[in-house]
Amino acid sequence: MTAAVSLDLDAMMANPFPYFAAMRAADQWTWSEQMQMWLVTRFDDVVFVDANPQIFSAEVPGALLTRSIGLTMIRSEGAAHRRFRNAADTPLKRRSVQRSWPDVITGLVAQHLAPLREHSAADLVQDFAGPFTGACLRAVLGLPDASAADIERWSNSYIGGLINNSDDPDVWAETATASAEARDCVAAVLDRVRAEPDATVVSAMANAYPDAPLSLEEITANIRLMIAGGFNDARDAVATLPWLLMTHPEIRARVAREPADFERSIDESVRWLSPVGSYPRILTEDYSSPAATLRAGDKVLVVAASANWDETTFAHPETFDIDRPNLDEHLGFSVGTHYCLGSHLVRAMVRAAVPALLELPGIHPTADPQFVGWQFRGPLSVPVAFEPSDEQEGTP
Ligand code: HEM
Repeated sequence: MTAAVSLDLDAMMANPFPYFAAMRAADQWTWSEQMQMWLVTRFDDVVFVDANPQIFSAEVPGALLTRSIGLTMIRSEGAAHRRFRNAADTPLKRRSVQRSWPDVITGLVAQHLAPLREHSAADLVQDFAGPFTGACLRAVLGLPDASAADIERWSNSYIGGLINNSDDPDVWAETATASAEARDCVAAVLDRVRAEPDATVVSAMANAYPDAPLSLEEITANIRLMIAGGFNDARDAVATLPWLLMTHPEIRARVAREPADFERSIDESVRWLSPVGSYPRILTEDYSSPAATLRAGDKVLVVAASANWDETTFAHPETFDIDRPNLDEHLGFSVGTHYCLGSHLVRAMVRAAVPALLELPGIHPTADPQFVGWQFRGPLSVPVAFEPSDEQEGTP
């Protein structure tokens, strides 16, 4: 028995949650004829899939992401995965982020808030979260020759390749251009960071394994991965939490007083709106459960956004509630070997940006954001108004 749920993929772009609920209620696996994949939507099943990479592998042959940006850690398993991940992870560990980047990130918050202060209205996505996220990634990844706008354009282009199911040649041409530009920016700094290592991710990758260093292409592919997902997902998280706090004044007052509550609000925001809604796996062998027999080579889509709204794990999942007893179990950053490498960085960004945004005098939302997508989901815009400030930074 497998679920016979009819999916309207266009409708799911606007509001996937009723479809997620129907799939969770129906069965363990939902076969999508249109996507030619099994969708796994319940919390326990997502955890099971992520805990068993030897059966449900991220090493998907012919993956559009690999065609778009090259072979990366997120489409590798075992030794190949560890080789990439261990090379990149030191600068992104919690302590490294705390040691190296707070001043830079705080400076970038101030720089990107200054133009907002001259106005009385803004869109937190376009006017703040996007440029701020691009600038943070430029600094932390270590790409001084790229602008924040380049990072945003490259991210859009790599994600365009990732969803280029129709094999549109124009999309591949754009992806190839963006891929070459990123390679040039990495190549331009390699000699310098090899001679004088610094705290950036490019430097860590360039100096890993002196006896068998990563190639330029291997470093660049993984940097593109951090641009593709890192930009899109961090921007959406930076723009969503202020709106959630503005629309939940009691929680807003608590998080302003208590840092631990603020941390919980970051997790609850990523549970409530999971920017990475799903990710693919492939069966390495046949797998039978009472619900269905899946065959080696079958593709599975892990729908973490649905698992995060599984009412058997998170009561009233539609409610933004920072007091959930099991909040730390949310799957917004995944679980297991591919757990998000950028989670500490994005936390540091949100920690610096959101309180500063909420200090804009009288800031309030002027319309509900339009959230779009289900494989990736985020706000198209978060319109706000506030009182313009007469004081310019540096004015005596
Ligand atoms: C709120 C923002 C973010 C969210 C919700 C998020 C979510 C995720 C998720 C769900 C995965 C696992 C995907 C899978 O298993 O296939 C992942 C992996 C990853 N993320 Fe993030 N991410 C965010 C920000 C970032 C940032 C800013 C970076 C940049 C450094 C980043 C770098 C990565 C990398 C490199 C991986 C692959 C890890 C591996 O394969 O071992 N992420 N992320």
